[in-house]
Amino acid sequence: MNSKSTKSSLIDYEKLMGLLKSYDQNYLLTYFSELSQEQKTSLLEQIKNQDWETLKLLIERYVKDYTVALDHYDISPAPYYPAQPALKDEAKYQEAIKLGKTLIAGGQVAAFTVAGGQGSRLGWDAPKGTFAATPLREKPLFQVFAEQLKKAEQNFGCALPWYIMTSPMNDADTRAFFKSHNYFGLNAKNIMFFPQGTLPSFSTEGKVLLQDKANLALSPDGHGGSFKALKKSGAIADMKKRGVEYISYFQVDNPNVKIMDPLFIGLHALDGADMSAKMLPKASAKEKVGNFCLIGGKLGIIEYSDMPSELTDAKNDKGDLLYNAGSIAIHMISLAFAESITEDPDSLPYHRALKKVPYLDITTGKIVEPKEPNAIKLERFIFDALPLAEQAFILETDRVEEFAPIKNAEGNDSPASSRELQTERAARWLEHVGYSVPRKADGSVDAIIEISPLTASCADDLKGLELPKIKPGDKVYL
Ligand code: UTP
Repeated sequence: MNSKSTKSSLIDYEKLMGLLKSYDQNYLLTYFSELSQEQKTSLLEQIKNQDWETLKLLIERYVKDYTVALDHYDISPAPYYPAQPALKDEAKYQEAIKLGKTLIAGGQVAAFTVAGGQGSRLGWDAPKGTFAATPLREKPLFQVFAEQLKKAEQNFGCALPWYIMTSPMNDADTRAFFKSHNYFGLNAKNIMFFPQGTLPSFSTEGKVLLQDKANLALSPDGHGGSFKALKKSGAIADMKKRGVEYISYFQVDNPNVKIMDPLFIGLHALDGADMSAKMLPKASAKEKVGNFCLIGGKLGIIEYSDMPSELTDAKNDKGDLLYNAGSIAIHMISLAFAESITEDPDSLPYHRALKKVPYLDITTGKIVEPKEPNAIKLERFIFDALPLAEQAFILETDRVEEFAPIKNAEGNDSPASSRELQTERAARWLEHVGYSVPRKADGSVDAIIEISPLTASCADDLKGLELPKIKPGDKVYL
């Protein structure tokens, strides 16, 4: 570091100290004099990059004082397109499938994966998309999606652009992973990586936390941060250049997602929707998924933690859950709508979560590993865009067909439960086209079966396949 840069960091220091004082956050520079020149520059840069006026507002609104007030009288169950169309809608579904195929083949649909999360529940110390997900070949999640897209490119005879949102924490690792796997056979020119924004974590008193003496405790700003990131990164401009009009949004943790679904895409286009969503009938009243509701007449999602029990437990005349539509975070988003959201930075609210965040104790200069949740994290959620849509709908889907999430290290929504669901889906596809699959007394598959996305993207793709008889305990990779 030369004397010129030392001098400029001193000027920055004076300026930023004054700024931080005015926001009562000047303790962030307590250990500044102990840092190396490089660390000093980096810390000052991190402080400079924050919008302190906005942070002040967020602290007032979400950290110090936070209530979720739901007006129960304004909430009602959301209508949805059923997985199987009613007789009157059969023609519409057929038309939608045809249109969806035309739009995909015409290059008007882009894939969009949000992969900026920290995956703390899974405890995988690398980008979640690198996690070995499939039951036999242990393909990483990114490979599963890449192969789906490759197959779709073959089927539809077109290139499919794929946008992957990372975070500043996992961006380099994600890019390196794709490069070292030669982009799983896809053309690298059609894949765009970009990092999302970050926000600091706060103490419950509204102080920005330090991760250590030289760094703010920053974390990604939620999957709702994707609108801002799409714009800032130039992804929206890139989509426009390519003639993309629709974005197929999905999360990095669900290997069973159907990225290019002609029915969903076609319905979205036919209805002129701004944003649409797939839903599953909930497994139980308290299943930890967002609940689709009409809120003041607008389609929206209420998080399971915010939904009052009298609503989650309510039944209809037939004794079924009144609010049975659970969100699986699969969306179609029109490009024009995504862009309109980015034009108003305050259009999406923040959600507050109390989490365990290691931090530097300013008084002792030591790092504290909290045993209990100690810090407030603020995130934006993608689904908060739904009520802003003029036109929005939800489409029912099947749990086994499209939802095998990997969230937790064990138990529900874990690698083990996901592998079971992947095998179950493979078995159903084989049975659908006439193969017999050994099953145990409880109905579960007595084999491990993995179907490569390159072999089939739906059951009908397996028609005519030559396959030896599957015996109990077999391991079958197709
Ligand atoms: P989750 O809500 O499961 O969060 O994200 P997470 O951070 O991955 O995992 P935990 O809660 O720490 O265990 C759902 C999807 O949204 C993405 C994730 O990568 C995942 O695909 N996401 C989440 C982002 O892209 N950015 C974020 O800031 C948060």
